[in-house]
This record gives sequence, C-alpha cells and structure tokens, in this order.
Amino acid sequence: MAIALNDLTYCVLTFGCQMNKHDSERVSGMLDALGATQVTELNDADIAVFMTCCVREAAEVRLFGQIASCKNEPLRSGSPLDQRIIAIGGCIGQRDGEELLARFPHVSIVFGTHSMASLPGMLEDRLQNHLRSSDTTDDRGIPFSDLPQKREHAWAAWVPIMTGCDNFCTYCIVPYVRGRERSRPIEDVVAEAERAVRSGVKEITLLGQNVNSYGRDRYGEPRFAEVLRRVDATGIERLRFVTSHPKDLSDEVIDAFASLSSLMPALHLPFQSGSDRILRTMNRSYTRERYLDLIAKLKRACPGIALSTDIIVGFPGETDEDFEATYDLVRQVGFAQAFTFIYSPRSGTPAASMTDEVDRAIVQARFDRLVGLVQDQAYRFNQAAKGETIGVLVEGASKRDERILAGKSPKNQTVHASIPDGVDIDELIGSIVPVRVDEARTWYLSGTVVDG
Ligand code: 5AD
Ligand code: SF4
Repeated sequence: MAIALNDLTYCVLTFGCQMNKHDSERVSGMLDALGATQVTELNDADIAVFMTCCVREAAEVRLFGQIASCKNEPLRSGSPLDQRIIAIGGCIGQRDGEELLARFPHVSIVFGTHSMASLPGMLEDRLQNHLRSSDTTDDRGIPFSDLPQKREHAWAAWVPIMTGCDNFCTYCIVPYVRGRERSRPIEDVVAEAERAVRSGVKEITLLGQNVNSYGRDRYGEPRFAEVLRRVDATGIERLRFVTSHPKDLSDEVIDAFASLSSLMPALHLPFQSGSDRILRTMNRSYTRERYLDLIAKLKRACPGIALSTDIIVGFPGETDEDFEATYDLVRQVGFAQAFTFIYSPRSGTPAASMTDEVDRAIVQARFDRLVGLVQDQAYRFNQAAKGETIGVLVEGASKRDERILAGKSPKNQTVHASIPDGVDIDELIGSIVPVRVDEARTWYLSGTVVDG
C-alpha cells in the first residue's frame, strides 16, 4: 500500500539566522498543507528537515555531526516507514547540493535556499519511487513569496521584504548561497503585514540580509523608510527589522525611530571591526567615523535606544592596534548586546585566501577580553530600566518556573515576572502586560506585573 504524507510526522531543525527560521516556517507550512503532522523531537519524526547555516565553520561541523548521528536514531513505534526520510535544506544545501547525497547515504533530499518549493515533489519521489534527489536551481524569482507559512507564534510574525545580498564582505559566504538582492513588491509586504495584524499579531519583524537597501533592485532606489511608514500605518503594535548595513542606513530611517510609534527603540547595526584598515579589507564601505556618526544620530533621534551589533575578532592581518580600535569603539558606543565571533575562513570567499592569519591564542585572548566588556555593557544598559514600568510582550512561562512569565521589553530585553495569582499563563501569552522592573541582571530583567 502506498504511504501518504498524511500518515507521516515531521520535524524541522533550524540553525543560523532569522531568515532560516522564517524559511522553516514556510517548510512547516508546506508540509502541513500536505497533511503531515509536525512534532518537535527528532525521535518522533518520520521526516527530518535540517535547515542549515554555513556562516561559520564550527557550527557547520556540529551540524554535520548531528546529521551523521541521525542515522542511528530509531524510528517511532508505529511509523509506516522502514527508514527515516532526511532532508537537508538552507544554506549548506544550496552550497553543497548533490555532494551531500554522496557524503550521507542516509540523506535522501537536498534543496537550496531558492528551491524550497521543490520539497513536496521530492518527498513524493522518495515515498513512491525511493528516489534520492537534490535541487539547488535558482529561477531568480523571490524564493518564498507564494509558499504557505506556519507561524511559530501566533503573536509574532517575520515578514521578509528582500532576500540576498550584493555587498560581498570579503569574509562572508551569504552572497554565494542566498544570491543577489531581490526585493518583494511593497504592496505584497504591506498586504502580508495587514493580514498579520488582522490575525492578532502584535509584533512584526521585517527581514532581509540588508533591509536598508530594500527596493534598490526593484525600484532603482531604496524605499525602506517607506516600508516602515506603511507597515506602521497597519496598526501593528511593535515593529522591528533585521539586518542593517551601516553604509545604507539613511537619515530617513533614523528619523523613523522618532516619528513612528510602533518602531521599537532597538537596532541591530553590525560594525564588524573598529579599525578602518580592517574595514577596508573586509570591503565594508564605511569608516569608524561614519559608524560613530550614525550612532550619534540614532541616540539623538531615540534617546536610550538599545543598540546591538556583530563583531568579528581575528580577521586576517588584525594587529593589536586594530583590535584596540574595535575594543575602543565598543566602549564609546555602549551596546545593549553584542554578538562576537572568531573569524572563520569560508572557502570561496576572498578572505579565505588571505595568508596573514592571526595566532589562535592571540585571537582567543582578544575575544575573551571583548566578551568581558560586552557583558559589562549589557549589565550597565539593563540597570537603566530599574524602577521603570515597561510593556512586556509575554512569550510563555519561564523554563525554570511555571509561575514566572517570560517576555520581551520594547528594547528586546528578556523580562521575568511572577504570574499574578489566579491568572493562567495561557491568558497572558501574546499580550502586552505592564511590568515594574525591580531587578536588572546581565541577561534579563525581573519585576512585578502592575495594573495597567
Ligand atoms: N567568520 C566569522 N564571523 C562571520 N560572520 C559572517 N561571516 C563570518 C565569518 N566568515 C558574522 C558577521 C555577521 C554575522 C551574521 O556573522 O559578524 O554579521
Ligand atoms: Fe554577509 Fe556583508 Fe552581506 Fe551581511 S552585508 S550578508 S556580512 S556580505
């Protein structure tokens, strides 16, 4: 008897950035539409879909280990299959394609960032004809626009506005696996935001590798500020966006932090290095001075804004002096949060053939010092919230205590507070409750729910 997809369970294991998380929602949407049932644990899944990331090597090695060990995981009892169906999607799927089928004989499907829509057909081929297949073709369309989507949370929506990147920072693999910049029509973006608001979504995060250049490919000029204005006008309560490139962040977008009530006072603005010399070899197209200038404008437009960033330590040729410039820039800005990465050479990128590697031990020492500073700054940033009453978008009960709620502040801080007596957490999930902050730690705030 033929096995149908609606007899099967699936899980999606997601690695990497928000774009992958969003792609995973499209994969779940497609599989649900075909009748399969989503589960959260690999052990319960007949179909396992790995949504992969290749930005840094260490994570990639761990991921390959997990895919390899998946071979030995038994199927759930009652599964109609004799072997779990394993699919690899996302950025490694796009980069390695068919090679993955040769490397992992227990993997039967590989799809790329541009060919998610092929997954249902490939699953049918595997189920009915035991075919193994890969598809990494790129039809130059917008890979996600017509696919169904299943949101992880009812109250939060990621809305992709563009995909791909034209910047070619010399360390970065993204332009090779996500392709050139492609913007969605503004009407599609606004319509998706309107639908989200109508369905009860409280927070929209606009997504793209380089949101500030939204529209350049489609309209000949960036129109990101217009997207912000029009999405704000849908009546959404909280609006955020990732990721920004300093070279494209316009005054109009900075002004939006002052003028749009839904735009949350938080911005992720990766600077990567504080040294002009390293910024040049990274091909970042801005200087330290220009970055600091943007920060000053942002702080003027939105006092108290929560700034976060990405920093790479140990880029080829990085001297003590270059690193000190990075350290000093962090000290000057005062970040609420910073993601620090040790440089990882990625085959095919220009930096991978740069020969002036920095000694491992030196890189580690620089990294540790920087992490110390970043943590001090996070702690200091959070202190400013003490005594304030802030709106917290409730995400659920805390993992450690089911009578404590966990949620996010406008500045994206994690907030914990006791659930008021007689209130069920399910009544609070997805709503915004006022919390008075009593205590501020490095990684979270804790407080008390007060009457709105
Ligand atoms: N090595 C280390 N970090 C990297 N990133 C991107 N490519 C590399 C690499 N080859 C970091 C950058 C980017 C973040 C998403 O990952 O800081 O902003
Ligand atoms: Fe990579 Fe640079 Fe593009 Fe960001 S802007 S995705 S770091 S190439």
